Amino acid sequence: MIGMVVSNQRGGVGKTTTAVSYAGYLAARNKKVLLIDADSQGSVATVLGMKPQRFLSQFIVNRERLEECVTPLNEHLHVLASHRGTQEAEAALLGQMAREKALQMILGPEVEGRYDAVIIDVAPSVTLLQSCAMMFAGHVLIPVAMDLLSLQGAQMSVETVRLLNDFYKTEIRNGDPGEDVGKDGHSDPSRGPGGPERTPGIERTAGAVRLRSVEPGGRGLCGGVRENYSSL
Ligand SMILES: Nc1ncnc2c1ncn2[C@@H]1O[C@H](COP(=O)(O)OP(=O)(O)OP(=O)(O)O)[C@@H](O)[C@H]1O
Ligand SMILES: [Mg+2]
Repeated sequence: MIGMVVSNQRGGVGKTTTAVSYAGYLAARNKKVLLIDADSQGSVATVLGMKPQRFLSQFIVNRERLEECVTPLNEHLHVLASHRGTQEAEAALLGQMAREKALQMILGPEVEGRYDAVIIDVAPSVTLLQSCAMMFAGHVLIPVAMDLLSLQGAQMSVETVRLLNDFYKTEIRNGDPGEDVGKDGHSDPSRGPGGPERTPGIERTAGAVRLRSVEPGGRGLCGGVRENYSSL
């Protein structure tokens, strides 16, 4: 199973769009995908035109079974939706021991063997849920727009990853987990950049990730950002 968090502390840079697109891409390739919205704005359901009745907070606060909290969009793509109650979930996690590992502990056993990929969209701010999501997923994709504040937001996401790795001795990576996915959909760490299963639209640069539009002839969201970003 692969995991990926889409993060940038700056708002409106394309996190939700990227998370939904990536999840849809994998589902279209017959992977079983869980798309988690960890942002109380609840944009994932809005973008997908869904009206979910169950939410992330019920999974985290009430400890209900995952299968009772997800809303299936289709056979391959399940959504764990978000709403204002997600703020309560954040508050509930605050009092826990090793709280950054809380999601890993409750979500890990529920997804293992059921999903090939878990994609998590997070809020544009430094939240505990974001740290929990990074600890669980192990990969962080950071979309950036062509402005300074977006780059500063990206820098804050990179810093969060660095702090978590230093504190918990983990190896959370900035990058596209698609690079690690074998043809069977399972993780294959031996695959390096440039492997045959790389995700269209996502390019790896030296220590950074660049996102470009996948529409034919589309204009890249982040084209030309490499020089700025590589200094982060
Ligand atoms: N590649 C792209 N090219 C042009 N516009 C885009 C692209 N990706 C997203 N957008 C547009 O940018 C806007 C913000 O996108 P999105 O909601 O995905 O950002 P976000 O980072 O999730 O925002 P927030 O931080 O508020 O959650 C939307 O109107 C979306 O349609
Ligand atoms: Mg969003």
